[in-house]
Amino acid sequence: MSTYSEIKRLTTKQLLKMKGVERVTMLTAYDAVTAHCLDEIGIEMLLVGDSMGNVVYGFENTLPVTMDMMLAHTAAVVRGSKRALVIADLPFMTYQASIEEALRNAGRCLQEAGAQAVKLEGASEYNCILIKRLVEVGIPVVGHIGLTPQAVHQMGGYYTHGKTETTRARILEEAKKLSEAGCFAIVLECIEPSLAQEITKTIKALTIGIGSSDVSDGEVLVINDLLGLTLGKSPSFVKPLVDLKTTIKAVGREYIESTKGKKETTLVDTCN
Ligand code: KIV
Repeated sequence: MSTYSEIKRLTTKQLLKMKGVERVTMLTAYDAVTAHCLDEIGIEMLLVGDSMGNVVYGFENTLPVTMDMMLAHTAAVVRGSKRALVIADLPFMTYQASIEEALRNAGRCLQEAGAQAVKLEGASEYNCILIKRLVEVGIPVVGHIGLTPQAVHQMGGYYTHGKTETTRARILEEAKKLSEAGCFAIVLECIEPSLAQEITKTIKALTIGIGSSDVSDGEVLVINDLLGLTLGKSPSFVKPLVDLKTTIKAVGREYIESTKGKKETTLVDTCN
């Protein structure tokens, strides 16, 4: 963890000043070296997403992610970065059972892993009470509405939200409630673009879009999707910028051929 004299991380106040001035960048990271690379090139926020369940651990969805996994990956991302604000995504059932348990788990993300904020999904009355308590004790919170993957079984799949008048009104109300409860930022996942735009204009919190067009205050993507490093197909709204799966295979193939073909390979040298 950083010592007092080294603290140069972006703060929620600095990020909030960017609303309406400059778009904010957020990417997921799950390990120290990725965090280091993104931090060095000026990413503003690193989200240790529970998407690690899919892209790191190979689960079908985010539900199996545990508090221990989140703490270990968050600590690695904090160690690898210096300036970005690091957000730990509270895993499924680590904040829903009781306010007390949620406070303790969110506290662990800051105290044990060194995160600067936590994220949680949904905008129920319970969540709004919880967010107020978290903010009261000094834990900055990012909300998440629209497509909320922890509710995949209830939602019955992944689709765009806010297409009807009724759902539009509900989602706009949710965004207002989260902002009023004290979230400094809210992820808008797969929300109909004109609604994402209306939310962005209406609320004080930063809106961070994903699969909601480019009308929010900022954008977030799963880094593996951008790198072409996903197990299945990447979501339709992401265009991978490289194809690292092909690169890994090519490098692996060269290593296998070099190792099997020669006694002394060109790739592996002696210790010195
Ligand atoms: O878990 C995650 O990576 C997320 C982003 C997709 C917003 O919640």
